[in-house]
Amino acid sequence: MSADQLYPPSTELVENANITRWMRDRGIASYDALLARAADYEWYWAEMAKELDWFQPWTRTLRWNTPFAEWFLGGKINIAYNALDRHARGPRKNKVAYIFEGEPGDVQRWTYYDLWRETNRFANALKRLGIQAGDRVTLYLPMIPQLPIAMLACAKIGAVHSVIFSGFSSTALKDRVNDAEAKLLITADGSFRRGKAVPLKANTDAALAAGTPSVRHVIVVRRTGLEVSMQSGRDLWWHDLTAAESDHCESVPLDSEAVLFTLYTSGTTGKPKGIVHVHGGYAVGVHTSLKYVFDLKETDIYWCAADIGWVTGHSYIVYAPLMLGATSVMYEGAPDWPEPDRWWRIIAREGVTILYTSPTAIRMHMKFGESWSRAHDLSTLRLLGSVGEPINPEAWRWYHAHVGGGRCPIMDTWWQTETGAFMVSPLPVTPLKPGSATRPLPGIAVDVVDQSGQRSPDGEGGFAVIRQPWPSMLRTLYKDPDRYRQTYWSRWPNLYLTGDAAMRDADGYLWFRGRADEVLNVAGHRLGTSEVESALVAHPAVAEAACIGVPHDVKGDVPKVYVTLKAGHQPSPQLADELKQWVANEIGPIARPEAIEFRDRLPKTRSGKIMRRLLKAETLGKDVGDVSTLED
Ligand code: WTA
Repeated sequence: MSADQLYPPSTELVENANITRWMRDRGIASYDALLARAADYEWYWAEMAKELDWFQPWTRTLRWNTPFAEWFLGGKINIAYNALDRHARGPRKNKVAYIFEGEPGDVQRWTYYDLWRETNRFANALKRLGIQAGDRVTLYLPMIPQLPIAMLACAKIGAVHSVIFSGFSSTALKDRVNDAEAKLLITADGSFRRGKAVPLKANTDAALAAGTPSVRHVIVVRRTGLEVSMQSGRDLWWHDLTAAESDHCESVPLDSEAVLFTLYTSGTTGKPKGIVHVHGGYAVGVHTSLKYVFDLKETDIYWCAADIGWVTGHSYIVYAPLMLGATSVMYEGAPDWPEPDRWWRIIAREGVTILYTSPTAIRMHMKFGESWSRAHDLSTLRLLGSVGEPINPEAWRWYHAHVGGGRCPIMDTWWQTETGAFMVSPLPVTPLKPGSATRPLPGIAVDVVDQSGQRSPDGEGGFAVIRQPWPSMLRTLYKDPDRYRQTYWSRWPNLYLTGDAAMRDADGYLWFRGRADEVLNVAGHRLGTSEVESALVAHPAVAEAACIGVPHDVKGDVPKVYVTLKAGHQPSPQLADELKQWVANEIGPIARPEAIEFRDRLPKTRSGKIMRRLLKAETLGKDVGDVSTLED
């Protein structure tokens, strides 16, 4: 790597960084020395865990019964106590926790005290409805303050939340509610998106009508004023329910391994996986990573512009910033509504100091052009972040120059729903290379291996794996420990398979290339090709479907589908449109295929597996590779 591609951190940043103080306190002289010291990862994570409030300290740091981990055994903790209670009773009581901006332009400022009291009222309401520790609660809410409040209320009483991205369809919602066997569903009348109100309660009603036997109650937040039908006895308004509740509700001391949430994510089969995270280790992982990577200080105004419906929002809009007592921006709507400078207006008005977003968003802003950011004062920004996909060096440089004013380091954070927290990322002391997430964080052992599981030589591509457990790792897949073992731990012994392709360069920097499996990354959102295919074969005209990802200049990948039709059905542009809409209805708008191509037959292996690789090579004009296993 030539020196002109290296962006070293400024002396000022390094001098004042949280991580520098941490190292100084322990007599650790350099970044390399830090990584070496943290090779004793049980020691490192125990040090980090001490920064949280525990009701009872742990007696054993780790029990690793491959591939099942338990961290901080014997410890009693509650993540909601760490996120709210301790601040509401201390000097941060009147500090703003969330600056919420609705898409129509309404602004609400929630202090820690406000957030704590509303969470307590809602937690009391949950208890009144009979929700107990371990019960599952499904949340289908837009980006409004009631979403973190409902999550924290569940955490307070030990209930397990399962947030479903509000862009998902009623079918996707129904499947996830049923998998979780949720007793309670929380939604809103609607959500604002590009000036329109999306009817969330109506989608919820459709899911309920399709059959969700476990659901006893539905709580509805009034957000848009859309007219909704309320089924008496089952459906309750949030504001009615909480009106008479007490402002006080203690967070229950929980076992550090108590389940905090499940979050569904796409895998290589049609059935989404319920990723399970727990209170203790997850709290330690997200707290540590935000504090030291984004270097959060008391005076920062931090903005993670993700959606809480995905893991980035769970970890870095809800839990980590609140545990750190930060002031965060939370924005409800589209980034380009009503004009492409909506974000830059918010940054200038609030004096945002840290912005964390995705390469897709950056490429979208690049397309609009730099005149939109140039028109606003973004000089308060000091750090930027990126997540969700590999960031191409061109987008990196644009972000650095036109958002960061050439001054702000970019923290390219590689991680997954499964990892809970950042795994590979710079710290403020790390020299940056545009397009690389740099090195594994202290206490984290991400590496690159070849087909046989041997460490790949520097400069050669391979599969990204993780060699040792970490506190915020998924504990299992909900109700399916066999699939957990099979999916992540069966390829090679003792290596966690990330599903990503990557390369380690001569400096030990990692370059993630994208997924190495049948999972697409559409605008930073994971989508299994088989989810799209199963949706399509459920259509009466479709016999077979094969989905591939094709490159898109803003969204990274977009789905393209090849279909064969059943007898009696003819290809037509109308049918193609109908099928695209069908997929959007079955899964959600993010899954809408960019193109549908009708074929008489699909290429298959002798064992009958559709060869997506071949379709992809053909579509992208690449060499088709080894076709010896092809049927014809
Ligand atoms: C991809 C999102 C390159 C990767 C937090 C991973 C990235 C998947 C990066 C997880 C990054 C995430 N550079 N690729 N900085 N961050 N990815 O579960 O393919 O929605 O496996 O979690 O996103 O997506 P998920």
